Amino acid sequence: MSAGSEAPTPQPLRGRRVALGVTGSISAYKSVEAARRLEDAGAVVDVALTPSAARFVPPLTFRSLVKGEVATDLWDPAAPAEQHVAMGRRADAMLVAPASATTLAKLAHGIGDNPVTLTALATSAPLVVAPAMDSIMYGQPSVQANLELLKARGVFIAGPAIGRLASGGRGLGRLIEPIELAAAVRSAIGRTVGDLRGRHIIVTAGGTREPIDPVRFVGNHSSGKMGVAVAEAARDQGAAVTLITTQAPPEGRYGIVVRSVNTAIEMQTEIWNAARGANALVMAAAVADYRPAEAAESKLKKQDAEEEGMTLELVENPDVIASIDAPHLLKVGFAAETDDLIENAKAKIKRKGLAFIAANDVTQSDAGFQVDTNRVVLLDATGEPERLPLLHKYDVGVAILERLKSHPDWPVRAD
Ligand code: CTP
Repeated sequence: MSAGSEAPTPQPLRGRRVALGVTGSISAYKSVEAARRLEDAGAVVDVALTPSAARFVPPLTFRSLVKGEVATDLWDPAAPAEQHVAMGRRADAMLVAPASATTLAKLAHGIGDNPVTLTALATSAPLVVAPAMDSIMYGQPSVQANLELLKARGVFIAGPAIGRLASGGRGLGRLIEPIELAAAVRSAIGRTVGDLRGRHIIVTAGGTREPIDPVRFVGNHSSGKMGVAVAEAARDQGAAVTLITTQAPPEGRYGIVVRSVNTAIEMQTEIWNAARGANALVMAAAVADYRPAEAAESKLKKQDAEEEGMTLELVENPDVIASIDAPHLLKVGFAAETDDLIENAKAKIKRKGLAFIAANDVTQSDAGFQVDTNRVVLLDATGEPERLPLLHKYDVGVAILERLKSHPDWPVRAD
């Protein structure tokens, strides 16, 4: 059994129904994977195909895969009457992926002549469209104008990406990957009905890398997974999210603004850049307490054989979270401890001016660095510690956001 496998799988889309519209493009195979990802996240997916989509992906593939219905033919006597209307009405979001140039035009102008465009007309749920076409087609003023129209009406446009195109060569027009398609649906639902709409949350992730020379750094084992999980959970609830990370930008980051940094000082600068008007800072990054006093400009060479060892002079880094003091910004810290968890964590709350802290014992193999799960204790300056069970980091993120939302200084929703 892998470490942490007893933690329940996160279900960010549990209870949600998603209508997936598939149109004619060679990239339609990706929509099969997108449907699976959406259902893995807890949604029930209904699928509508245009006649040309059904030539690229047999409807049977979707029928065998999804829990919802599959609509292919408006005139099929065996299909439920007005199936597209029912699909549109019950949807919490609709994703059209791939969205061909023709379908974009129909969506922009209210034309309903196939199961996809009719379902889109029949829904008042947020609509996500993921264009896929040749780059010259994508660049056509007509296509761009249609996209602008859709955007102006609040439609979420997901992609396209730059990459290999079916028409040959590389260019802009490739359908974004299934993980990003599913992320776009999560983001669209959050932005429409999520508890954190209108809020801005800054999250830091990963271990800082303090340069010794151009090829070496002082670092640590933090994978950045905890911070990414908090960022995703906040995005899914509709927050504007700035993720400041030392790691590669995560997959499935639709709706998250990613800022890449290396050092503690760069991280501090990026937090300040994002802090105006932000409501919370969740500091999941493992910040190095010390950095080399000087970073050599060129690669250090191995010392001559007669010299023994090497001494690296270190100077103290700023305490980043303690140094950030912005009006209305609630600060949440993490404390990775090996001894006296509660006492050490409590001392950090005071010292750093935190609303609360998520403390974890990093000596456990299923919690802390590198793994997908964590077992944390949430505690503030005065109350009883809240001991959470072993959870996926995403669900730890959800618990942190719940606590933020019930904090006395958290702004109450006007609507
Ligand atoms: N932190 C920070 N800047 C630092 C060190 C830590 O912002 N220079 C933040 C971490 O991101 C975390 C919290 O402070 O949210 C606690 O980090 P931790 O490493 O546990 O605390 P330290 O203050 O470094 O204390 P120690 O290493 O002595 O346990």
